[in-house]
Amino acid sequence: MSTTDPKHILVIMGSPRKGNTFHACEMFRELLEQEIPVQFDYIWLKDLTLHPCRGCLLCFTKGEQACPIHDDIPKIWEKMRKADAVIFASPVYAMNVTSLMKLMIDRFSFTFHRPEYFDKKAFLIATTGALGHEEVLKYLADVAGIWGFEVTGKAGLVTPIPVPAHLAERNQKTLQNAAHAFSEALRRSRRRSPGLKDVIIFHGQRAAFSQLMTQSPADYQYWKEKGWLDKKVKYFVPLPVNPLYHAIGVLVEWIATKKVKKDLITSSGAKE
Ligand SMILES: Cc1cc2nc3c(=O)[nH]c(=O)nc-3n(C[C@H](O)[C@H](O)[C@H](O)COP(=O)(O)O)c2cc1C
Repeated sequence: MSTTDPKHILVIMGSPRKGNTFHACEMFRELLEQEIPVQFDYIWLKDLTLHPCRGCLLCFTKGEQACPIHDDIPKIWEKMRKADAVIFASPVYAMNVTSLMKLMIDRFSFTFHRPEYFDKKAFLIATTGALGHEEVLKYLADVAGIWGFEVTGKAGLVTPIPVPAHLAERNQKTLQNAAHAFSEALRRSRRRSPGLKDVIIFHGQRAAFSQLMTQSPADYQYWKEKGWLDKKVKYFVPLPVNPLYHAIGVLVEWIATKKVKKDLITSSGAKE
């Protein structure tokens, strides 16, 4: 791909209507276009056939293809895998993401165990009448981060009806600054090094999945095939890891390994 090819940005739209969140995304697109060529593609969750997770755990243990629900979720996997970057956009509903967004996230739960989007950036947009946008942005940042995305920006916009002039101005400024920073991130091909939390998550998960060959073979096999079970591997992708973060990660893994071992012995004893 040449540097002038537009970046393909997929918007996962959690709002059930073309309202504030859509307008924020469109404003963001216009601002981004002033910085870098981009092509936006919207997934309107409201227009897809999506059913809630039934809790069978087959996606964890046997793989996502074993999910007994046959609906439009694979369309989202496919589009997400092709995109250069993903924007997760949701209004605040009852102090959280909308049920549409949460349903989609629940159905992607296997991705918390088998992260894959390490070559992609994520941007987060939350709109709200007054409150809850910080919490929603934090939640979406945790989700996208654990799925493997490099979360490179976010915008929380307060959009009461009508939006007073000072808030409209503040929202415009927020999006402007965010578009500038996100365009810089899109130009960078290299990922930034993982933070402490990322390193801890890697080691904590390795402690679990390295021992779950019987209980969760799909997870175990994925980790094994990726080479992540090799103790020399310090993170999901080959990036410099801060030595202090690594030392803390190793300690976390040692403690978590003992705990998982103990839990597995207790649970197999309980079954007998
Ligand atoms: C069902 C519902 C729940 C909402 N819950 C909250 C809330 O908890 N806190 C808040 O400040 N605003 C809340 N709002 C306001 C929306 O977050 C706000 O209007 C948002 O910008 C709507 O986005 P949209 O126009 O894309 O639908 C709620 C709105 C609806 C319809």
